Amino acid sequence: MIKFTIITLFREAIEPYLKTSMMWKATEKGLAEFDFVDLREFGLGPHKSVDDTPYGGGDGMLLRCEPVFAAIESVKAKEPTAKVILPTPAGATWNQKTARELAGDAHYIILCPHYEGYDERILTLVDYKVSLGHYVLTGGELPALIIIDSITRLIPGVLGGEQSAEIESFSDGDNIEYPQYTKPSDFRGMKVPDVLLSGNHGEIAKWRESHTKKAE
Ligand code: ADE
Repeated sequence: MIKFTIITLFREAIEPYLKTSMMWKATEKGLAEFDFVDLREFGLGPHKSVDDTPYGGGDGMLLRCEPVFAAIESVKAKEPTAKVILPTPAGATWNQKTARELAGDAHYIILCPHYEGYDERILTLVDYKVSLGHYVLTGGELPALIIIDSITRLIPGVLGGEQSAEIESFSDGDNIEYPQYTKPSDFRGMKVPDVLLSGNHGEIAKWRESHTKKAE
């Protein structure tokens, strides 16, 4: 069983995806569990404030330490071994190899920052800093979904059938799987390669291998 606890101010941005398709099936099959912690509940003062201006000046607001530490500690009180993932453009670029390393019997806490950033001291709580690429998003919610999806689909039993596992060995993130086609064999003059219609499994395997591409 893999478990993700998502600490966010915007649960409503994340939850519908996790209730759809394969992520939903993973929970239905008891292979994954997703739950949420509302960072606002740990906010300070009457306005439940979670952010403040940066020391030294500058634009924007930063997530404060107190609510983040309290939220993470509330989860760790129940599950001390849970590991913390922080989506941030300053992290290591996410890839299939890391997704595979994290796919297992584990509990991950994903902290979704918002605003312009976070107080640096928050990093003392973090096990994995993850970047989704060299661009900047407004918050950690989309990265959280990508991280969850890419890990959860690797949990045995989440994708149905042996076929998926077989394709997976080709599609390892660097090697992108071969082109595929379904019916009709001729669509507006665009024909499916003959070899795929031949029924010759040896030739088909060779064709697929030679058409497996390297990711750019
Ligand atoms: N938060 C904002 N931009 C991000 C990115 N590129 N990757 C991960 N987290 C982010």
